[in-house]
Amino acid sequence: MQQLAKAWKSRGIGFVPTMGYLHRGHVSLMERARKAVGPEGKVVVSIYVNPTQFGPHEDLAKYPRDLKRDKDLCRAAGVDLLFVPRDTDIYPAAPPFSTYVTEQDLSRLMEGLSRPTHFRGVTTVVAKLFNLVIPDVAVFGAKDFQQAVVIKRMTRDLNFPVKLIIARTVREIDGLAMSSRNKYLSPDERQQATVLWETIRSVKNRLRGRTSSNSELTGEVSKIVQAKPSARLDYVEFFDPETLEPVKTVKAGVQIALAVYIGKTRLIDNARL
Ligand code: PAJ
Repeated sequence: MQQLAKAWKSRGIGFVPTMGYLHRGHVSLMERARKAVGPEGKVVVSIYVNPTQFGPHEDLAKYPRDLKRDKDLCRAAGVDLLFVPRDTDIYPAAPPFSTYVTEQDLSRLMEGLSRPTHFRGVTTVVAKLFNLVIPDVAVFGAKDFQQAVVIKRMTRDLNFPVKLIIARTVREIDGLAMSSRNKYLSPDERQQATVLWETIRSVKNRLRGRTSSNSELTGEVSKIVQAKPSARLDYVEFFDPETLEPVKTVKAGVQIALAVYIGKTRLIDNARL
C-alpha cells in the first residue's frame, strides 16, 4: 500500500476509510473524494472491521460483511484501489502491537461515555491508515459527527498532512440515516427506527428561530422516543459543534446528537439546528 501510495503521490490521493457493507452514504464519500483529487488523482477506499473500536459486548463478531458486493460498488463508483488489510497486517501479534493514539478531550463526551474505548480504537486505526495510504485528502461522513470532529483534532495535533472533508449525511426516503447497522433491524424495528429523524425534525420545528432550554428539549425528546415500544434513549445532547461542549440555551447553530436503542440495535444520528 505504501509503495503504491508513493508512486501515486504526485497525482493526489483521496481516501475513504470504511468498515464495509457499503451503502449510498459511503458512495457519496467516494464521489466527494473523486471531486477533490480530479480525474487524474487516485481514490482509495479501505475496508477494515477494526476490532479495537468495538467494546467487549458489542457487535464485532456479527458486524455485517459482503466483500463481493462491496467490490462491485467500488468499481461502479470509479474507485482506483480497494485496500482490505488483514487483522495481522494492522495489529501484528508477535511481538505484540502496543502503541495507541488517544484524543483526550472531545473523545470523553457522548459516544465516549457510552463506549469508553471506542475512540481510542478509531484514532489508532485512522492514524495507521493515514500512514499506509498517505492521502492528501480524506473524506468522513457527518453521520458520525463526533468521530469526524475527533479525527480532525487528531489530524491537527499530530500534524498529519491530510486535508479533511466532512460530507453530509445520506438518508433513506423516510429520513433514517443510512448505516451498515440498519441491517440488524426487523421490519417492525425498521419502521420504529425513523424515531431518530422524527425527533430531530420535531426539535427543529419547536425551535423555529426561537430559543429553548436544554432541559426542556431533552424532556421532549425522551417523550417522543418513549412513545415507540422498541425504542430506548441512550443519550441526547445539545452542544457547540466546534467544542462539543453542552449548551444550556438551545438556538439556531447548536448541534443535536442522539443515540437510541431499537431493540438490541444501537443507532445514532445528529444535525445542525
Ligand atoms: P463506517 O461506519 O463504515 O463509516 C465509514 C464512513 O462513512 C464514516 O466516515 C462515516 O461517517 C460515513 N458514513 C456512514 N454512514 C453515512 C451516511 N448515511 N451518510 C454519509 N456518510 C456516512 O466510521 C467508520 O466506518 C469507522 O469508524 C472508521 C472511520 C472506518 C474507522 O474504523
